[in-house]
Amino acid sequence: MGLKIMYMKVFVQCSIAFFLCAMSSAQFDINYEETKVPEFKVPEPLTTFSGERISTPQEWDTKRRPEVYEFFERKVYGKVPGPLDKVTFKTLEEGNNALGGKALRKQVEITLRKNGKSIRFTLLIYLPKGASKIPVFLGYNFHGNHTVTAEDEVLISNAWSMNNASLNIDNHQLTAASRGGRAHRWAIDNIIEKGFGLATIYYGEIDPDKSDMNDGIHALFYEKGQERPKRDEWGSLSAWAFGYSKALDYLLTDDAIDPTKVIVFGHSRLGKAALWAAASDQRFAGAISNNSGCGGAALSKRRFGETINVINTQFPHWFCHNFKGYNNNEEALPVDQHLLLALVAPRPLYVASAKEDQWADPQGEFLSAYHTSKVYELFHKKGISEAQLPEIQQPIQNTVAYHLRAGKHDVTEYDWEQYLIWAHKMFNINP
Ligand code: GCU
Repeated sequence: MGLKIMYMKVFVQCSIAFFLCAMSSAQFDINYEETKVPEFKVPEPLTTFSGERISTPQEWDTKRRPEVYEFFERKVYGKVPGPLDKVTFKTLEEGNNALGGKALRKQVEITLRKNGKSIRFTLLIYLPKGASKIPVFLGYNFHGNHTVTAEDEVLISNAWSMNNASLNIDNHQLTAASRGGRAHRWAIDNIIEKGFGLATIYYGEIDPDKSDMNDGIHALFYEKGQERPKRDEWGSLSAWAFGYSKALDYLLTDDAIDPTKVIVFGHSRLGKAALWAAASDQRFAGAISNNSGCGGAALSKRRFGETINVINTQFPHWFCHNFKGYNNNEEALPVDQHLLLALVAPRPLYVASAKEDQWADPQGEFLSAYHTSKVYELFHKKGISEAQLPEIQQPIQNTVAYHLRAGKHDVTEYDWEQYLIWAHKMFNINP
């Protein structure tokens, strides 16, 4: 009986999702044909907005990088309104026999304070036992830390969550019913066996993913009567990126972790946030964008799959208000997303796509990685030298890496296997 109700709920939610998708396609006229991609010019990475040529890493760092960063900060993701008053860490739980004995588990509460207000989030960390100076992947999860593994000790967040029938999330409340429900996205055994650690946070603890701006971290910074950020101030993606940096603040204090090897990882909307985090915080050693699509790795000017107008309409809280000025107006952008990727240079960067994830425009994600490679080459790092999209399951793994996986929008064992092979090479890891 219980099972029947669950299946019915999944069916109803799937039907609603399908209906919304159909609605949005009808409403927005989405292009999935390569022949209908408009003609456009990819903004030249090594020429400043005023036309000056950049020919050394120093010129990149002092002239081009700052102007590109500032553009993304003020016109796309939005500025963080100011420093916090205080950040504190508290270990809530530790286990030295995790994952069948091969790992250490730690749960650390991080409190962010500003103007007499605070929010808290919990960082769940797994580290291989007996290792030191451990390289770590840091990534948000969509549905709570307790969905990442089935371990009973993992604490359940009481932050607002989107409902999800397949994970038994009702009334916007996380419960033990979804314990381990997203384990297939995290390859945790493989990560630990290959000598890496994994740190994860439930993204809803930083900013609940809904279009009001009254809660989460934004509210800490408001003056009396203020209900939303200013036009050039942070949307949710920038808030999540800031949360990644605050988690990094903690990771850099943990003696077991190599402070020069924290790689920020994110899938989909959280891939967009991971890229902006790596752009904004150069303490991150590298970045992985898994199927990040529009507003992430994909070139916006291609208008293939999801577009700026679509994303700003369906998720009005993700970017800063100024970004809405580019709805159906991509040609006015003096940058494109390859320049977001260039803000990660010269650090290792992995962009991954999935063949059936046309909404995220795999070709646009690849071209972005290709066009950013000029900046990497300036630093004598190997990028992607051919403009031809590789076949599925044929990864290119240089300092700029790319793969096209078979299948749908997701994070799979295959994706993690590639990230691990690449990270071993990039960060000289000997397990
Ligand atoms: C939607 C959205 C994408 C986003 C994705 C996700 O599909 O349109 O931009 O990447 O959700 O985060 O799963």
